[in-house]
Amino acid sequence: MRPAHTRIPADIGCALDYERHAAHHIEAMAWRHIQGGADQNLTLAHNRAALDALRLLPRPLASLRSGHTRLTLLGQAFEHPLLLAPVAYQGLAHPEGEIASVRAAMALRAGYIASTLSSHTLEDIAAAAQAAARELGYGAPLWFQLYSQPAREHTLALLRRAEAAGYQAIVWTVDASIKRSGFALPPSVEAANLRGYPAMQHTPQAIGGAVLLGTPLADAAPALEDLEWLRAQTRLPLIVKGVLSPRVAAEAVARGADALVVSNHGGRVMDGVPAPIEVLPAIRAAVPAAPLLLDSGIRWGTDAAKALALGASAVLIGRPQLHALAVAGVQGVAHLLLTLRSELELALAQLGCARLEQLTPEAVWDESSKK
Ligand code: FNR
Repeated sequence: MRPAHTRIPADIGCALDYERHAAHHIEAMAWRHIQGGADQNLTLAHNRAALDALRLLPRPLASLRSGHTRLTLLGQAFEHPLLLAPVAYQGLAHPEGEIASVRAAMALRAGYIASTLSSHTLEDIAAAAQAAARELGYGAPLWFQLYSQPAREHTLALLRRAEAAGYQAIVWTVDASIKRSGFALPPSVEAANLRGYPAMQHTPQAIGGAVLLGTPLADAAPALEDLEWLRAQTRLPLIVKGVLSPRVAAEAVARGADALVVSNHGGRVMDGVPAPIEVLPAIRAAVPAAPLLLDSGIRWGTDAAKALALGASAVLIGRPQLHALAVAGVQGVAHLLLTLRSELELALAQLGCARLEQLTPEAVWDESSKK
């Protein structure tokens, strides 16, 4: 396993180049954990296939004057619609972990979502973001991803800590409280935010006994009443992450979600589910007024353009941030974000869009409209 480069290797020009290099910079067990999906990796592969299957329709001759990529989301100003997804245990990719990735995000004006399962504390991550923003003279929104804890008092403690540290929104992840994982963290990496909090134990029962249903793990899975409870606990915007069903989207918004992340968790939780890009139009129709973010498989600026065209306000970048972090630390993540932003702007220009709101479903070629 090689340490991170201090300079970005000359042959890196896109997110997939970081992935290729990263295999040599991450320990083998951690690499399998990061890269893997559920079961046969059908969902993992399908996330890419579904994005690849869409065609964008260039629109030359449109004026690109006075263009920009700015947007306002939940009352917060973003310079562009690329955010770093909450990704656990970034210490697996680089000793500086989340401290490096949040500094890169601020430098590139990318929104950052710190995971509950960060290898640095949420307070240290926020302090690094705030110090970077002071140094730079600008920054970007900082959000906290919340995993419900076995006891509500610990969920509430995380929420209050996030509010006190200056996080500007809560991203409540609801699709991964029950998932298989055989990965054991190395001793150098821990869930820094959860020190002193009891972990959910799921010990195998006797053969013939309860497997999952009827165990404390299943009983504690987040439910709609937990959404109402959480909504009542904070004034911060509340974003529900991990929605694929239009019906669930409508229920979540009706119970107080301010926005949704359409996501299948990068194919890590359940095999054989639709790609977020496929369900996006139906979710857009089900919750016409709610801001939607999307992740799972975004690797190119054109992927982001497809998601924005079909109704997302912004996209989240998952695994590629770990790849870039492992290859070249803070510089790698900054370069990754610059690369994706450049690709997105190139796509916007080709699509005749000087601003994000000009990107509509018309930018995606509809096979059925072929004459
Ligand atoms: C994740 N993801 C995730 N999501 C979340 O809400 N909290 C978390 O702690 C984590 N941790 C995590 C670890 C690793 C190793 C991966 C790969 C992913 C999911 C993440 O936020 C996002 O939904 C997916 O990564 C998006 O898919 P891509 O971009 O990785 O294809």
